[in-house]
Amino acid sequence: MKVIESPSEFAAELDNSRVSGARIGLVPTMGALHDGHRSLIARARSECDVVAVTIFVNPTQFDDPSDHERYARPIREDLALCDNERVDVVFTPSERGMYPNWPSEPSAGMWVKGLADDWEGHWRPGHFGGVATVVAKLFATSGRCRAYFGEKDFQQLAVVREMVAEMLFPVDVVACPTVREPDGLAMSSRNSRLSPSEREAARVLNRALAAGVRAIRDGCTNPFEVSSIMSDTVRDEALVDLEYACVVDARSLSVPHELDRTSPLRLLIAARVGDVRLIDNCDGMFDEEIVLNDERTKVARCAAG
Ligand code: PAF
Repeated sequence: MKVIESPSEFAAELDNSRVSGARIGLVPTMGALHDGHRSLIARARSECDVVAVTIFVNPTQFDDPSDHERYARPIREDLALCDNERVDVVFTPSERGMYPNWPSEPSAGMWVKGLADDWEGHWRPGHFGGVATVVAKLFATSGRCRAYFGEKDFQQLAVVREMVAEMLFPVDVVACPTVREPDGLAMSSRNSRLSPSEREAARVLNRALAAGVRAIRDGCTNPFEVSSIMSDTVRDEALVDLEYACVVDARSLSVPHELDRTSPLRLLIAARVGDVRLIDNCDGMFDEEIVLNDERTKVARCAAG
C-alpha cells in the first residue's frame, strides 16, 4: 500500500494505473475510519482494480472551528484499516497541499445552488461550499474514477452528484447504504465523542425516523404532520436538541405539498447530543432495513397491516 502526501504524485500514480487499463475506485474520507468507511472500501475493492482512499480533515467544511479541532485524527489506525482492506493508495495531503494559500482564504472554490441551500446548508452555513470545493479538488487530482459516498450524508451525496453533472467531471458517483450499530445508530466518526448517557440518548434519532416512516405507512400525507411526529419523538429525550426533522422529495430535497407514495421520499434528521452533532436519514417507504430491534419489528408489522 502506497501512502502519498503530494497531490501531483497522487495524480501521477493514478494516471499510471489508468494507462495499464485499471479502473480506479476513489473513497474520499476525513479519516477516523469505521465500519461505514470499511463498507465503501469493500464496495470499491469489489468493483475496481485500484482502490484509493483519501484522508483529509477538510478545514473549509467546518462551520464550527472547535468541531474541526476536535475531529479525531487516528492516522495510524486508519492506515492499518486501509492496509487490511487491501487499499492500494492512501492520499494524505496537507492543508497547504489542498489549499495553496492556506491559512489565507482560498482564492477559488466551488458552489452548488438549490440542493445545498436547506437542511445542512441552513444549519451549517458554508459547509457545502467547503465540501464541494474539496471534492472537486479530489476529483481534479484523481481523474476518471468511480467515487464512493455513504448515504448517511444524504444531502452531501445529492450535492456531489449535482456538481459532477454540472461540471462534467469524469466520475461515476456510487451511493452506498448507511452502516449502523446493532442498536440502529448510524455509524459516524463523531459517535466516539458521546458519553455513555449521550450514546444511549442518541438512539432517539433512529426512533424518530421509525415514527416518521410508520406515519407515512399508516397513510399520513401531510409532510408537516410527519415532521411533527418525528420532532415529538425527539422531544422526549432531554439530552438531545433537535435541529430539523423532515420528509422531503428524495431528488429535489424539498418538502412536497403532499406525500405521494409513488414518488421517492427521504426522511432527514439532525440533532445535537451534548456538543456532538449527529445526522441520519432513511427511505420514506422503508425500502431499506434501517431501524433495528423492536422498532423494526413494529414498522414491519405496521407495513404488513
Ligand atoms: O463525508 C466526508 O467524509 C467528507 O465530507 C468528504 C466527502 C470526504 C469531503 O471532505
